[in-house]
Amino acid sequence: MRTALLLAALSLPIAAQAPYQPTAASLRTHKVPQWFEDAKFGIFIHWGPYAVPAFHEWYVAWMSPHAGYGFLLGGPPFTPAQGNLSDAVMKLRYPPGSVAGRARKYHLDNFGPNVSYDDFLPMFKAEKFDPDAWARLFQAAGARYVVLTAKHGDEFAMWPTKLTPRNAGATGPKRDIVGDLAKTVRAQGLKYGLYHNTTYTFYDKRYPGRDWVEYMNATIKELVDKYQPSIIWGDVREGPIRDTQGRPVPSDYWNSKEVIAYLYNHSKDPAEVLTNDRWGLEADGSRLGDFSTPERRNLNAIQPEKWELCDSLDPFSWGYSRILPEGGYMTANQLVDYLADVVSKNGNLLINIGPRADGTIPEVMRNVLLETGAWLKVNGDAIYASRPFTTYKEGDFRFTRKANAVYAIALEWPEDPTFTLKSLTSHKVQSVELLGQGPVKFTQSPTGLTITVPPQRPCKFAYTFKILTAN
Ligand code: GLC
Repeated sequence: MRTALLLAALSLPIAAQAPYQPTAASLRTHKVPQWFEDAKFGIFIHWGPYAVPAFHEWYVAWMSPHAGYGFLLGGPPFTPAQGNLSDAVMKLRYPPGSVAGRARKYHLDNFGPNVSYDDFLPMFKAEKFDPDAWARLFQAAGARYVVLTAKHGDEFAMWPTKLTPRNAGATGPKRDIVGDLAKTVRAQGLKYGLYHNTTYTFYDKRYPGRDWVEYMNATIKELVDKYQPSIIWGDVREGPIRDTQGRPVPSDYWNSKEVIAYLYNHSKDPAEVLTNDRWGLEADGSRLGDFSTPERRNLNAIQPEKWELCDSLDPFSWGYSRILPEGGYMTANQLVDYLADVVSKNGNLLINIGPRADGTIPEVMRNVLLETGAWLKVNGDAIYASRPFTTYKEGDFRFTRKANAVYAIALEWPEDPTFTLKSLTSHKVQSVELLGQGPVKFTQSPTGLTITVPPQRPCKFAYTFKILTAN
């Protein structure tokens, strides 16, 4: 009898034994997995048919007077050839100097009025996409995880799905981009996450009806079942997305709690997966999810809770953009400083690249990633698995710690070969090592720890002093 019961329990679908309930209280018992705490550096990839016009990933939202965030606009065809638009529509959609106005002009200049966004879908071929080379690049960059746009606001699914005909299996690449990259990224030992436009669309006319919400929920669940992502990275547009009374739409509208519980309960190991906080707001204004995601916005204090800053090498677009000159991208020097700064405050840095429509990653992006990887080879000890020190900065230095090591990362090579760090006055220092080079001279006094640097620099960009302390 007992065996029969046990067998019955084992054969139940995972959800029936689900430890997580679709309530905020239950979901909040889920903890950030250690791998995410330790990973520090991830690669974000915005890739889809918007790489064909190569202006910005919001292209479809801007090029047509009728596309938009749904709630406000909606409406039929997605081409700029709408005849004479009224002054009112032009003012609303394309205020003088606006980015939408620029996108519309770009479209008319480059493609003309008869090309619609959907004409780009078959042109998005990914014919040179080499998932193995991508994964090796991310590994060489020193990234510990990757987040790919499985679906963005243009509603093009990057995996074959029965839930929408707008998918990479049926159109364009004619392959499973999400699945192919999953294999190679994991083979390199990196974790794999998926971005999903959880609570907004630029395209789907069912939005924000219940049928859209059900479809959206179903696509996320399919991704969980099919690819077992380590992260579901949702997204919101809280500003323009309002209900008919003008209130921000609550997370319950999107069924967010049920979907998050689904992610946890249907992952092989619920403790190893996580999701960000972009799922709409709770009635009390709080958010769901495991970590916050300030976007292109740094925080200026150590945060007790895990957070992840996302930013793009391109200061304007997340998708591949032809309008940015090569010199406009973030440099490796800037990226390394950014990473050290964010990590010193308990953050991860998720840095975005936008591959071309053919699947190649522009040289300028590859170089930034490879140079960052070279820096991490020497200095990674100060970054991976580190935790914040008691203070995160002193002048040009950023601090991290691990066991009895304190890492002082000099964002610039010290101007004066002999300098003093005041932040370590209460620590008994046993040794100081310049990572990539070896022991360096130091003295301790009531004013601090005085270090003398050798003439030779061990690497480019930033330099780490590993300080072993007795306390
Ligand atoms: C910005 C962009 C959006 C992108 C997101 C990533 O909100 O508008 O397209 O996906 O950043 O966090």
